[in-house]
Amino acid sequence: MGKQKKRIGVLTGGGDCPGLNAVIRAVTKTANNECGMEVVGFFDGYDGLVQNRYENLDDEDVSGILTRGGTILGSSNRADPFNYPVLQGEEYVYIDRSNQCVRNFDALGLSALIAIGGDGTMAASGGLMDMGIPIVGVPKTIDNDLEGTDVTFGFDTALQTATDAIDRIHTTAQSHHRVMIIEVMGRYAGWLALGSGMAGGGDIILIPEFPYDISAVCDHIKLRNSRGKKFSIIVVGEGAKPVGGEMTVSRTVENSPDAIRLGGVSNRIAAQIEGLIEVECRVTILGHLLRGGSPTARDRMLATGFGVEAVRMVNRGETGRMVALRGNHMTSVPISEVAGKTRIVTPDHEWVQAVNSIGLSLGTPDGVDLKEYLETARHENESRAKRAAKQD
Ligand code: F6P
Repeated sequence: MGKQKKRIGVLTGGGDCPGLNAVIRAVTKTANNECGMEVVGFFDGYDGLVQNRYENLDDEDVSGILTRGGTILGSSNRADPFNYPVLQGEEYVYIDRSNQCVRNFDALGLSALIAIGGDGTMAASGGLMDMGIPIVGVPKTIDNDLEGTDVTFGFDTALQTATDAIDRIHTTAQSHHRVMIIEVMGRYAGWLALGSGMAGGGDIILIPEFPYDISAVCDHIKLRNSRGKKFSIIVVGEGAKPVGGEMTVSRTVENSPDAIRLGGVSNRIAAQIEGLIEVECRVTILGHLLRGGSPTARDRMLATGFGVEAVRMVNRGETGRMVALRGNHMTSVPISEVAGKTRIVTPDHEWVQAVNSIGLSLGTPDGVDLKEYLETARHENESRAKRAAKQD
């Protein structure tokens, strides 16, 4: 009898993004072709591992999916195995199903799991690793807010989608001499707003890290008007908030590890501006549009590279780590250094410096020290992570 092939599992957790299928394809093909391994794909993130819902994946199953958005495996941002929601009557109760994950993993004869996800997925992976499941993480999210890697896959596509939208809004802003406010996702980090604001030629960029002062925003619009520019483009991260104020919550999702869903701050900003100066504002909230579509060439390449490296790491026995990109090099970091952390925009980041140099406004008053804001933002993120960990 021949030697039994090694089997590995793969799952996609958290909010989806373009490039997930490209990773699944690269994982399956590398495992099959290069490493002689079999692949099992769990459905709906950690939900599939808890409930033992999976399918075997081979080359044929992943053929033609490179360019497709979403994930053929499905995803869930509610399936934390340590705090797993179960409906009892009309109410959810939360139970620890991590032992079930270990049992299912063992029963399938798996030797490792590749978990493609963001901070929530990495946090759950950390816990399961402590229980003996060897895991390699792959960093995904349009928010680009994962520690340990310069970039996550999915970000570039969302950045391009947001930039295309801003380009389109630019022309109508100009025709009607309006202030157009475009709100992008990104949660507690401003990467998407900052990047698309720069690439789309925004005039004012408001991000969660640097609370805005509405007078400073209005002053910049007036300054542009005085220079003959009768329209302005404001790009806002959904987590933006006024100095001394709070983020705008659009809903809470009861059984999600981070229950808060942000959204709608741009409506508030529009009302504030129209209340202070004589301009007409319009709001566009891009929302989930940013999570869909075919991945850009850059994301397809990054996702493929991450998937290949993840399998090679399993093959080399380098588990407990997340694949990462530093500069142009593929590397890896311990998952424990990533889990529960948020990578935010810092005042010394080259994008912030560039925005300042070309005279865009970040909505902060003249002379303000952005570093002071940063400490507060870091502190808030740490407290949020601690609260989330306590809920587990
Ligand atoms: O993390 C990705 C993300 O799209 C965030 O930018 C956004 O805040 C959140 O997920 C939205 O979550 P949901 O899909 O549950 O509405």
